[in-house]
Amino acid sequence: MPLVEVVRISKQYIMGTVPVNALDQVSVSFEAGEYAAIMGPSGSGKSTFLNLLGCLDTPSEGTYLLDGLDVSNLSDSELSDIRRIKIGFIFQSFNLINELDVLENIQVPLFYQAVDEQESHDRAVMLSQAVGLGHRLHHRPAELSGGERQRVAIARSLANDPVLILADEPTGNLDSKSGREILDILHRLNAEGKTILVVTHDENVGREANRIVRFKDGTIVTS
Ligand SMILES: Nc1ncnc2c1ncn2[C@@H]1O[C@H](COP(=O)(O)OP(=O)(O)O)[C@@H](O)[C@H]1O
Ligand SMILES: [Mg+2]
Repeated sequence: MPLVEVVRISKQYIMGTVPVNALDQVSVSFEAGEYAAIMGPSGSGKSTFLNLLGCLDTPSEGTYLLDGLDVSNLSDSELSDIRRIKIGFIFQSFNLINELDVLENIQVPLFYQAVDEQESHDRAVMLSQAVGLGHRLHHRPAELSGGERQRVAIARSLANDPVLILADEPTGNLDSKSGREILDILHRLNAEGKTILVVTHDENVGREANRIVRFKDGTIVTS
């Protein structure tokens, strides 16, 4: 059974009165343990696709099975439960909480779970060390470099031990050295068994993955 299986999903946005077919009858699946890059020109539907896989949104049509469960038609609160349990998300713009320090940001996903404080703290320390930030536990995002911020975001994405890690242009805001560090971490996570899907327009980032899925005009042209 694939970890991710989408069957003829479409996504339509209405812009004023004009419908935009951001995704048109897309079918594809990903096995547990894959490291795939989602590529294609700007506007081709990559982020829309990733947001659907991440249960941040639902398709207008079609079926999405995540880990065997049909999540195509769930309510917002059911979707947020699924996200919390199964998905880790890494964004181009990090999306950290400015008022919280490194440890607290990493603990955010655990805050919503029944994890006790000591365990949550210990887990966040362990994760911060795993991304090389063991010496930055009480820094806030403004006191970190871009690469460090993205490493916090990766640690946060791992906090709930998700089955699926989704990253949308994770190196897009980083210099090449920091980007390299982020790619090395993603590589290592995949070697440890994590399933990783990365949206990128950067062929160098795409080459790191074991598979490239290419979008054009809301459809998949290579998978
Ligand atoms: N929230 C939205 N409302 C209306 N149109 C959108 C929205 N999000 C994306 N689109 C449109 O859907 C298409 C695909 O966008 P997107 O998935 O962001 O592409 P990519 O990530 O490949 O650049 C584009 O034409 C974009 O303008
Ligand atoms: Mg995008």
